Amino acid sequence: MRKFLLSTIAAGLLAAATPALAHEGPALDKQVWSWQGVFGHYDKAQLRRGWQVYHDICSNCHSMNLLAYRNLASLGFTADQIKAFAAEKQVTDGPNDQGEMYQRPARPSDHFVPPFANEQAARVANNGALPPDLSLMVKARHGGPDYVYSLLTGFTDPPAGHVVPDGMYYNRAFNGGNIGMPPPISDDAVTYADGTKATKDQIAKDVVSFLNWAAEPELDQRHALGVKVIGFLIVLTAMFYALKRKIWADVH
Ligand code: HEC
Repeated sequence: MRKFLLSTIAAGLLAAATPALAHEGPALDKQVWSWQGVFGHYDKAQLRRGWQVYHDICSNCHSMNLLAYRNLASLGFTADQIKAFAAEKQVTDGPNDQGEMYQRPARPSDHFVPPFANEQAARVANNGALPPDLSLMVKARHGGPDYVYSLLTGFTDPPAGHVVPDGMYYNRAFNGGNIGMPPPISDDAVTYADGTKATKDQIAKDVVSFLNWAAEPELDQRHALGVKVIGFLIVLTAMFYALKRKIWADVH
């Protein structure tokens, strides 16, 4: 009985310790991200480039409903730049005094204007596939930023014998291999405002960083707070230790 219990506990521990191995699906191309680790933080210049990639390329098909233009202020864009980004798009507002809805340029307080009016329109434009909203995409997929990076750089020729249906593309990171998204990026697909060389790899890293910020904008503050808390605990521990030595000094 004891033996049985012990082996059950051992098996349970082993299973708990190896959740990563339980994941099925294509291997991920793991990257080093600036925000990882306790001292990690976002690189604002990279986030601004990532916004440019989303703006120039991804936003033609993907919405980001949870973000408002004014949120871009924390990437270091000026109020005028943000106003200009918003004003590129039209939104429906109203009703006005005549009881009619009307179109007006978007304002910084508006959420990102989606590329399609509704799901059907999005599917019609994409061979039946639905481009998902990207606001929380990095959190929604196993592997997070490494997965999205692997997906963006994972378009290759299919392995021999693999059939790719019409209107689909082979991607080695996508489960099953066939995806309805055409390869969105390539070398020089954008011309960076800050002069950074736009290799495919750079573009993928920048847009993934931007998507990570979108899903976890408070990360920098959280890390800064964590470091302060650890510092506080170290000081507190040192004080208690000194106190303990003083109190017990006379006991031999
Ligand atoms: C021409 C339209 C188009 C463009 C441009 C585009 N996508 Fe997509 N994307 C799609 C479609 C359609 C799907 C759904 C594919 C499917 O389900 O087969 C998709 C799916 C995705 C997914 C989800 C994959 C999954 O695991 O379900 C991610 C992530 C993604 N796109 C990121 C991006 C990023 C980042 C960009 C910009 C660099 C981009 N896309 C540009 C059409 C597009």
